[in-house]
Amino acid sequence: MTDPELTPEQSAVFAEHGFLVLRGVLSSEQVDELRAAVGRFERHALVSGPGMHHFEETDQGPRLARSEDLIPHDPLLRDFICTGLVIDRVGALMGEPAVLYKEKVNYKHPGGAGFAPHQDATAYRFVDHHISVMVPLDAATKESGCLYVSSGHDRGILPNTRGCITEAVAAELEWKPVEVFPGDVLLFDSYAPHRSETNRTRCSRRALYLTYNALSAGDFRARYYADKAAEFHGADGTFDGDRVRISVNDDFLGRPVSQPARNLSELVSRYDGPSAQQLYDEEVTELVHGLQCAEFALADGADEATIAAALLHDVGHLLVGDLFPIDAPLERDWQHEAVGARYLSRFFGPAVTEPVRLHVAAKRYLVATDAAYAAALSPSSVRSLAVQGGPMSPSEQREFEALPGFASAVRVRRYDDAGKDPNMSTRGFQAFVPLLERLATR
Ligand SMILES: [Fe+2]
Ligand SMILES: [Fe+2]
Repeated sequence: MTDPELTPEQSAVFAEHGFLVLRGVLSSEQVDELRAAVGRFERHALVSGPGMHHFEETDQGPRLARSEDLIPHDPLLRDFICTGLVIDRVGALMGEPAVLYKEKVNYKHPGGAGFAPHQDATAYRFVDHHISVMVPLDAATKESGCLYVSSGHDRGILPNTRGCITEAVAAELEWKPVEVFPGDVLLFDSYAPHRSETNRTRCSRRALYLTYNALSAGDFRARYYADKAAEFHGADGTFDGDRVRISVNDDFLGRPVSQPARNLSELVSRYDGPSAQQLYDEEVTELVHGLQCAEFALADGADEATIAAALLHDVGHLLVGDLFPIDAPLERDWQHEAVGARYLSRFFGPAVTEPVRLHVAAKRYLVATDAAYAAALSPSSVRSLAVQGGPMSPSEQREFEALPGFASAVRVRRYDDAGKDPNMSTRGFQAFVPLLERLATR
């Protein structure tokens, strides 16, 4: 890792162009730590955890677009953002110590939308000058929707509509792509015109955006987020219903997440009812078992559909339990995986229902293909294995691997086997409802 002071030449580049790239100034260990921290917020976002989170609709379904208000919840991120190289370089450009104004992650998943031409200054209250730092966690290339920056930071606020530079003015600006890679940082002036495009690759393009102002102007971070929370609270989260609102500016081109196509209250109320309180095994209830499996999926970085499948995989037990309350867990199986998958198809697509339908078969697959898995099965699971058909033959394995929900079903199965801990704490079912609603849109 190099750690150069800002040279007079670099300061001159920033003054002339309104932006400056520092190449390779972060170590790969630092970038890995930042990725891990951002990964934690991505998981928080799925279950309405700490931080402010914004989703957008993509062709692949709803995806996280932005998380912000992060440092109160992550000491490592706070240290990186508020002490050390980044804030020092910003201070050097400002000619005095800098203080953090706001911090966010833009995810830009495959198909994630870009931003219309704008200047950040139009969205930033309280102080009239800021410097922002983009810290890429993945390669930001023209294909993945990197920033395009134009000179013009010395022209003040350009003609704009709700923060978007007017088309005629934007067309006259000379836009330069700024491709940056993990380890680089890009510093840009809050008056520098910039824009970006959709991520057209198959990989996510995540970046931290850290915004600072001069210390002498005051510390407004708390007020900024209090205002934003108040303004967004109770609003529908869109501009005119056709673009997601993630900023004061109307510059983000992402589509709002579709409203759930189906009403989930019937499903949710089952997990509130008595059959969810029946024992799953000797120690935990059906509800607790499902919640534990969902926690494992979340911690494992599984996609939203797999998390939902983990949560709901035994809903067939609840359905059968509502009809015939029986005390002995083993006897009330009744092909609960098929019953559950059929029921869930009223609310969700195959990404959720297939792993549910296959989670019993996945056990037969794992017993046949993973010796450590077979050795670790609980006595009751060994007994039920015989009823379920024993280990899969090689040809059954090949057939199973060809099924669309195969990989997800195997993951759900591993959570299923682990989700029997009487001492584990989990969040409640309600924390997962927004995730279920995002999945119920198609
Ligand atoms: Fe099951
Ligand atoms: Fe289960």
